[in-house]
Amino acid sequence: MLPLADLLATATSGSHLYCCGPQPMLDAFIAATADRPMNMVHTESFVPPETASPGAGFTVELARSGRTVAVAPDQSILAALQAAGIPTTSSCKQGICGLCETVIVSGEAEHRDSLLTPEEQAANRTMMICCSRSRSDLLVLDL
Ligand code: FES
Repeated sequence: MLPLADLLATATSGSHLYCCGPQPMLDAFIAATADRPMNMVHTESFVPPETASPGAGFTVELARSGRTVAVAPDQSILAALQAAGIPTTSSCKQGICGLCETVIVSGEAEHRDSLLTPEEQAANRTMMICCSRSRSDLLVLDL
């Protein structure tokens, strides 16, 4: 195990701290940074988080065109958009790279990614459309 406490002691109080790796290291990093502001502590897991059941279907509206796309219970927003021929950007499709991050115009996201902090998820400003879903029947995205 890395000497996390020693490494973190060299970071100033205004430093953003990043850690990427296996879960035991992330757990140790999170514990070692518990006294830091959460918006300055960033982690990236090698595996996506365990998710609950897929949930219900919902509708995504694309704010720029007004077009709507139905997202099936077993389908990601990204997959629904791609099936509808809408250009998207993605890579991992597991909520760990951030390439598909999309601005939320209205509606409430159900975040299932490993990137956004709890505060960022609660702010409901952006979401990873490859893995996250919607708590509302209609989700309007800045697409
Ligand atoms: S494609 Fe990587 S986070 Fe969505």
